[in-house]
Amino acid sequence: MLDRRNVLQLSVLLFGSVLLVSAFVEELDDSFLESRDPDDIWLIEFYTPWCSFCRHLDPVWHQIGSELRSFGSPVRVGKSDATVSTALAKEFRVRNYPAILMFKNQVKYNYAGSRTKDGIMAFSDRVSGPLVRSLSSVQLFQHTMNRHDVMFVYVGAKSELKGNYTTAAEELIVHTFFFSATRDVLPKAVTLPSLPAVMVFKDGTYFFYNEERDGDLKSWINRERFPNFLEIDGYTLYAMGESGKLVLLALVEETHLCDESLRYKNMVEKVATEHKEMHGRNFYFGFMQGSNYISGLIMGDVIVPSFIVVNLSNDGYFLPQRHVETEHHLLDFLEGVLNGSVESLGGNGFSQRIRRAVYETKLTLVPLFRDAPGLGCFLLGFPLSIGTIFCYLCIKNRPTQTDDEDKSPQRRKKPRDKKTD
Ligand SMILES: *[C@@H]1O[C@H](CO)[C@@H](O)[C@H](O)[C@H]1NC(C)=O
Ligand SMILES: *[C@@H]1O[C@H](CO)[C@@H](O)[C@H](O)[C@H]1NC(C)=O
Ligand SMILES: *[C@@H]1O[C@H](CO)[C@@H](O)[C@H](O)[C@H]1NC(C)=O
Repeated sequence: MLDRRNVLQLSVLLFGSVLLVSAFVEELDDSFLESRDPDDIWLIEFYTPWCSFCRHLDPVWHQIGSELRSFGSPVRVGKSDATVSTALAKEFRVRNYPAILMFKNQVKYNYAGSRTKDGIMAFSDRVSGPLVRSLSSVQLFQHTMNRHDVMFVYVGAKSELKGNYTTAAEELIVHTFFFSATRDVLPKAVTLPSLPAVMVFKDGTYFFYNEERDGDLKSWINRERFPNFLEIDGYTLYAMGESGKLVLLALVEETHLCDESLRYKNMVEKVATEHKEMHGRNFYFGFMQGSNYISGLIMGDVIVPSFIVVNLSNDGYFLPQRHVETEHHLLDFLEGVLNGSVESLGGNGFSQRIRRAVYETKLTLVPLFRDAPGLGCFLLGFPLSIGTIFCYLCIKNRPTQTDDEDKSPQRRKKPRDKKTD
């Protein structure tokens, strides 16, 4: 048992540490708009008192504040209650909570990755630094290459291409790093076509951007910014939507993969590596642990392990028509997806939207009936209200206002992770 003195000590300690921690995160109100120094770089979280995700983020946010401070980072960490500082939230066009963004040189960069300390710190580090980082020595180049799965590099002197590269960086720095180097710091094995050039190092190899073949530089970077094979979570899959590629996934258990799952995962990896030339332009490859996200997409139960191809441009998906035993079957499946012989399911057509509305209504009502049958019946006593919900779900456009209560990354409810104005 704690005696009174201990309790006192404890509370002094706790109180003291709360004060200490809070000092690293500044509470911002509407006056921020006038008072801020234009040279400052800010990492800001917008929250509301009723948002449970914001509460979960709180300790993480304080940790970020204290770590950035202890590293001597120029980034200042703030937070703002959007229900109180409404002008500020409006200025930053905040719609979802918690909203995490970086504000630098009058530009705001939205963060839409997972809400973990590591994810947010990496974002902060990337966006707060120079848009294009110069790699000035062979050692630095090697070191950087070892640390990045995907690495874009501009090689050459000032040019129009460099201008385009920097413009692309302004928008895509939220996703990936941009480097520049001179020819003499590149690995000896690299043969350059002509300078200037933009290249990407990934999957143990490298290749060049070619305007004629690849189209606009920004789209090419968007397409190539993931490794060919990777672990994909909901946030990543959502972000991959902008790449325009299809994604072949092995769906496996959340934890403790069984032998069959491991086999599925390895099969995808093998196809990804061995058929990169043929399929790398159309597909990304990966595995996803846990089936929540995909069951939301297909509006049904997911078999684990299994294969699925997702078309993120239209929310469509493809399932193998027969059991996939070998890599050969898997390749056939990919071929069938491309040549149209495998039927595309889902999508964002009208009937699918109705189906989604029904599905989401059911998701809302079923737990209600299970947990509180009385209340459920009471609600159903008002068909009108249900009808209204139904119509509302039908009509409303897909991205919704708040993602307060969703437990896992949900595809419907996230803003796009990119720079906005
Ligand atoms: C730079 O971008 C512009 C506009 O997208 C394009 O017309 C031009 O060809 C690009 N220049 C180079 C060298 O890629
Ligand atoms: C994926 O969706 C896009 C956009 O609707 C469409 O143009 C494309 O043909 C689809 N891809 C496949 C393989 O169905
Ligand atoms: C499409 O690809 C599948 C699998 O390779 C093949 O069996 C089928 O004949 C192809 N269909 C067309 C119309 O090319």
